[in-house]
Amino acid sequence: MPPDRGKRVRLAPSILAADFARLGEQVAAAERSGADRIHVDVMDGHFVPNLSMGPAIVESVRRVTRLPLETHLMVSDPDAFLEAFAEAGSDSLLVHWEGNANLHRTVQRIKALGKRAGVVINPATPASVLEEILEDVQQVLVMTVNPGFGHQHFIPTTLPKIGRVRRMIEQIEPSCDLEVDGGIDATTAPLVIDAGANVLVAGSAIFNDEEGVAAAMKRLGHRS
Ligand code: DX5
Ligand code: ZN
Repeated sequence: MPPDRGKRVRLAPSILAADFARLGEQVAAAERSGADRIHVDVMDGHFVPNLSMGPAIVESVRRVTRLPLETHLMVSDPDAFLEAFAEAGSDSLLVHWEGNANLHRTVQRIKALGKRAGVVINPATPASVLEEILEDVQQVLVMTVNPGFGHQHFIPTTLPKIGRVRRMIEQIEPSCDLEVDGGIDATTAPLVIDAGANVLVAGSAIFNDEEGVAAAMKRLGHRS
């Protein structure tokens, strides 16, 4: 379908796959190569079975790039951390639908902090849960792997769902970004773009490429 075809597809490199000892350098390379935003994966070892980073990393990355920083909160109690990430320099806060009994309130809190709000859905969660929250958010993130780890295989059954979310966005809130996250590489990128995604998160395909960040981003169809 996508009504979005023709519009520029944007790339959000995920620093989860970066070499943390050279984080500043790697973020700078992504910025030089035309990244549109930097994706920061926050995990609490409870909502997902892994630990990653916190506000201190956002604060450090904030100092080395002008790109917007989006924070993907894979934590059981996102409300407890919104302020800390906003203060550290996050521009968007992405919260999961799963396990949040008060999602509307969480979204309003993000907006009250003056930040862009996004809702994330896991692979087994249907697109329909977005219907009532869509007009309140600037981003929807469809997980194309189960959250918690980088370098996993893309789950193909998420493709028709991306199409359903795209149709819903066109009807309810056409300016909303449709972002995808997990297993995005040169093979899966065209599939998700065809299905209607307009922002691609990619970790290992960008930071673990032998030819470097710029070549990897070109391979994902990105022109800087
Ligand atoms: C997974 C994270 C992703 C991860 C993607 O839980 O939300 O952002 O970094 O990594 P790749 O692109 O390697 O699948
Ligand atoms: Zn993520």
